[in-house]
Amino acid sequence: MMSAATIKEAMPRAETARLAVSVRDLDIRFGDRGNEVSALTNVSVDIPEGSFVTMLGPSGCGKSTLLRCIADLVHISNGSVSVFGRPPRQAREGRDFAFVFQEATLLPWRSVIDNVRLPLEVGKHDKSSYADPMELLALVGLKGRENALPHELSGGMRQRVAIARALVTKPRILLMDEPFGALDEITRDKLNEELLRIWRETGTTIIFVTHSIPEAAFLGQHVLMLQAHPGRVKEFMKLDFPYPRALSMRDTVDFVRVTAHLRALLEECI
Ligand SMILES: Nc1ncnc2c1ncn2[C@@H]1O[C@H](COP(=O)(O)OP(=O)(O)OP(=O)(O)O)[C@@H](O)[C@H]1O
Ligand SMILES: [Mg+2]
Repeated sequence: MMSAATIKEAMPRAETARLAVSVRDLDIRFGDRGNEVSALTNVSVDIPEGSFVTMLGPSGCGKSTLLRCIADLVHISNGSVSVFGRPPRQAREGRDFAFVFQEATLLPWRSVIDNVRLPLEVGKHDKSSYADPMELLALVGLKGRENALPHELSGGMRQRVAIARALVTKPRILLMDEPFGALDEITRDKLNEELLRIWRETGTTIIFVTHSIPEAAFLGQHVLMLQAHPGRVKEFMKLDFPYPRALSMRDTVDFVRVTAHLRALLEECI
C-alpha cells in the first residue's frame, strides 16, 4: 500500500533523464511599465522526456501562460525556457510540440480526416516524418468516422479528432490546456484512459493542465502545482501509481489519500 509518506516529492530538477522542457527562473510580466501584471515569477522546473506531467492551480495562477511560454507564444520577461535543449522558437520551427485546447477548434467544412491532415498542409514537411492520419484516427477510436463532418460528432469525438490532429506531425511534446474540461464525466473518464494508452504507445511527453484533482492524479507521473498572486511553483510532486492505470484505481485508499493531499495543497494556493 502506498502511504502519504511514499508520495515522493521530486526535486524540481531531474538529475539523469533527458529533459523535454527545462524552465529556469522564469518571470512573465504583461502590460506596460508602471501597469504591469506579473503572471509568473521565479518558476523553475524540469520535465523529463517521455513523462506525463499534469498541472493544477487556481484560476489565474499562470498555467496557460506557462504552456504558452513553452510554445513560444509569450514573450519571456526574465529567465529561460528550453525545449529539448533549444529555445522555444527553434522548437516551434522544428515542430517539437503541438497544442490541444479546451475547444477542439476543428474547421467545420472539412471532414474528420481532412481536419487531421490540416497541419501537414501548413508549412514544410518531410513526408516520412509524419504519422498516418488514418492510423491516428484508429488510435483515438474514430475508425470509420473519417468522412464525418465535425457537426456530426459529439464533443468527446471532436476532442479525439483534435488529439489525432495534434499527433499527426509526431510532436515530441503534447501541450494540453484543459482538453476535457467541457466534457461530461463519463466521456472524460474514457478519454483519460485513452490518453494514457496513446501516451504509452507514442512515447510523447505530455503536459496537461486541468482543474480536476482526480484527473491530475489519475493521469500524471508528476503533478506541478502552481499558486497564484503571483504565479509560482507550489510543488512538483511525483506520483508512484503504476501504469497501466485503470479507472478503478480512483477508489483505492492510496488514491484518495493522494487527492486529499493535493486538495489541501491547492487550498493553500489561493
Ligand atoms: N495576454 C495577456 N495580457 C495580459 N495579461 C495576461 C495575458 N495572458 C494572461 N494574463 C494574465 O496572466 C495571469 C495568468 O493567466 P493564465 O491564463 O495563465 O492563468 P490560468 O492559470 O491558465 O487560469 P485559468 O485556470 O483560469 O485558465 C492572469 O492574471 C491573466 O490575467
Ligand atoms: Mg488557463
